[in-house]
Amino acid sequence: MKTIQDYNFEGKKALIRVDFNVPLNDQMEVTDETRINAAIPTLKKILNDGGSCILMSHLGRPKNGPEDKFSLRHIIPNLGQKLDVPVKFADDCVGQSATDEAQALQPGEVLLLENVRFHKEETAGDEAFAQKLASLGDIYVNDAFGTAHRAHASTTVAAKSFEDKCCGYVMKAELENAQKVLEKADKPFTAIMGGAKISDKIMIIEQLLDKVDHLIIGGGMSYTFFKAMGGQIGNSLVEEDKLDLAKTLISKAKEKGVDLQLPKDSIIADNFSNDANTQTSDNYAIPAGFMGLDIGPESREVFSKIIENSKTVLWNGPMGVFEMSNFAAGTNTIAQSVVKATENGGFSLIGGGDSAAAVNNLGYGDKVSYVSTGGGALLEYMEGKVLPGVAALEE
Ligand code: 3PG
Ligand code: MG
Repeated sequence: MKTIQDYNFEGKKALIRVDFNVPLNDQMEVTDETRINAAIPTLKKILNDGGSCILMSHLGRPKNGPEDKFSLRHIIPNLGQKLDVPVKFADDCVGQSATDEAQALQPGEVLLLENVRFHKEETAGDEAFAQKLASLGDIYVNDAFGTAHRAHASTTVAAKSFEDKCCGYVMKAELENAQKVLEKADKPFTAIMGGAKISDKIMIIEQLLDKVDHLIIGGGMSYTFFKAMGGQIGNSLVEEDKLDLAKTLISKAKEKGVDLQLPKDSIIADNFSNDANTQTSDNYAIPAGFMGLDIGPESREVFSKIIENSKTVLWNGPMGVFEMSNFAAGTNTIAQSVVKATENGGFSLIGGGDSAAAVNNLGYGDKVSYVSTGGGALLEYMEGKVLPGVAALEE
């Protein structure tokens, strides 16, 4: 696969797929700029070479054509400020206006196209639509790692129309960091998996059992394990149809000599609310009417020690409902321990989504080795799946 460093963009119009799927608040302001920040070096390299940038992205999951709350127009101020050049905007990603704007684009200029998902052909991977997008640029650059698991028109199909195509700096760094963890991890290697459901993480957990020394499982999915082992979990989250699977994972970990760590205790609540009555409870004996919403103090201590002594740490998924301050201690402690492991010379990779948000909100983004911009894409890559967006650059 060619990378952006293999090209000089002088006089070229680069058609770049970025992942500007960023969260917006009610005032349509960007609340997390991580993905915009990440794309800037790629765009600057092209502009500094004397090229121009035509940017394609999705935002959210619009179902029925254009809708203001999914408009990429809202990110123009953030992008313009970071690039230090005015950002032109085409209010449709295909059609006359996009073609005219793209044709008129001069070296050093940036054109942002409206949300590609305003056309249902995008997610359908429609060839004719992809060709219309492709006709706008001379070189195709894919820097949208977060969307590389989608075989959509702008992420995958459009690449076919180009002789000249490459990945950008984000895509390159994401793949290198994921490979480092999967293939060249220094030991001890600890993976921390959290989040609500085992079903989302089962494939990655199975992959990791062949690689890690310690596997820490926290968050909502840990209660399915306790129920499977005969515990009383009160009203905690459970996937009844995954109880056997949880048992299988426990015995597989044993067979492979992996130290599987489940949280011994939880902060439990009588309500799914930050104002609920709370207590600390053993995870085998959560009283009826209560649910576990965070790992407890003993688990925090045990997990921290393991993490801080690790040379490689992979973290995906929160330890509790960290959006509510009373249930954030577990996730925050893990974040601090990952920072310590990194300060001790370890390598830490934070899988995107909620754990990335937690690390960034705490201001630790620069204190860990790498925060991925991908959620589902990183998981699928680590599960060993071929990402269509990556494969399309290799053809
Ligand atoms: C994401 O945020 O996960 C990516 O931008 C992909 O978005 P999608 O899950 O809507 O395809
Ligand atoms: Mg997603």
